[in-house]
Amino acid sequence: MSSLSSYLHGTSPSEQNRLALLNRLVNRGSLAELDLKGGESVLELGSGLGHFAREMARQAGRSGWVLGIERSARQLHRARQGRASAHGARVDFRRGDALAPPLRPREWGSFDVAHARFLLEHLREPLQAVRQMVRSVRPGGRIVLEDDDHDVLRLHPAPAGFASLWRAYMRSFRVLGNDPDIGRKLPALLHQAGAEPIRNSWIFFGSCAGHRDFPLFLQNLTEVLASARKTLLAHDLITTPSFHAAMRSLRGWGKRPDAAIFYSIAWAEGRRP
Ligand SMILES: C[S@@+](CC[C@H](N)C(=O)[O-])C[C@H]1O[C@@H](n2cnc3c(N)ncnc32)[C@H](O)[C@@H]1O
Repeated sequence: MSSLSSYLHGTSPSEQNRLALLNRLVNRGSLAELDLKGGESVLELGSGLGHFAREMARQAGRSGWVLGIERSARQLHRARQGRASAHGARVDFRRGDALAPPLRPREWGSFDVAHARFLLEHLREPLQAVRQMVRSVRPGGRIVLEDDDHDVLRLHPAPAGFASLWRAYMRSFRVLGNDPDIGRKLPALLHQAGAEPIRNSWIFFGSCAGHRDFPLFLQNLTEVLASARKTLLAHDLITTPSFHAAMRSLRGWGKRPDAAIFYSIAWAEGRRP
C-alpha cells in the first residue's frame, strides 16, 4: 500500500543535511510540548535520521526506551551511525512501514507514547498510520502528532514571485496524493482513529533578519523548495523560469534587514481510551 506513497524530498545526502538542520531548529520546541517525564517507552513512526528519537530517549532516561520505525534504508543507515545512547538512554531503529509497523505481538498496546512528526503529510493514507499509533499504545497512552499546515507561512515583505512558488509547492503534495493542509486535521485524525483528542497547539517556527538563526531558517526554506523542484517542473506546477526567478528573489530577500518568516508546526495530542 505504502509503496505507492511518495516522499517528496527524497533521501539524498544534501536533503539529509537539510533534515538534520531542521531538527536543530525544531527539536527543542517539539520536546518541550511533548513533556516526557522520564521512564516512558516511545514509538516513533517515520523516524528519519533519528535525531529526535535520540532526544526523546535522553529525556526518557535510563528506564525509558524509544523505538524508531523508518522505511528508507538510507535514512536508517544515517540514524544508526548516531550515538545510540547518551546518559544511558536506549534507542533502537527498525526498518518498516508506518502503515504496518513491524512490532512484535507483545509490543502492540504496550507503548506509553506514539509520536510522528512531518510524516502524515507524506502519506496517502495518514489515517491508517494514526490507527496503528493508537493500537501501539496502552490504554491511557498518548498519541502525539506534529505536522505542517503549509498555508500558514507568511514572509514579509513578500518576495516577488514567492506566493506562486509556494502555491505550486502546496499543489505538489496533492499531485502525489498527499495533503499539504494536514496540520489543522490532526485532532480529527486522532478522533477518527479511535483516540480522544485532548490538546492542540502550534510550535512557532520562524525568525527575522538580525536573529542569529535567521540564515538557517532561510536555508531550510530554500532547500525544501529546491528538493521539490523536479516534482514541480515534471507536473507543470510552475514554469522553469518562474521557479528560478522566485528562488533568486527569495535568496535576495534574505539579505533584507526587515525580512521576517512566520510559520508554525501544528501539534495535537490524543489519548487511547
Ligand atoms: C520529513 S522526514 C521526518 C523525519 C523525522 N520524523 C523528523 O521529524 O526529523 C519524513 C520521514 O518519513 C519517512 N517515511 C515516509 N513514508 C514512510 C512510511 N510509509 N513508513 C515509514 N517511514 C516513512 C521518510 O523516509 C522520511 O525519513
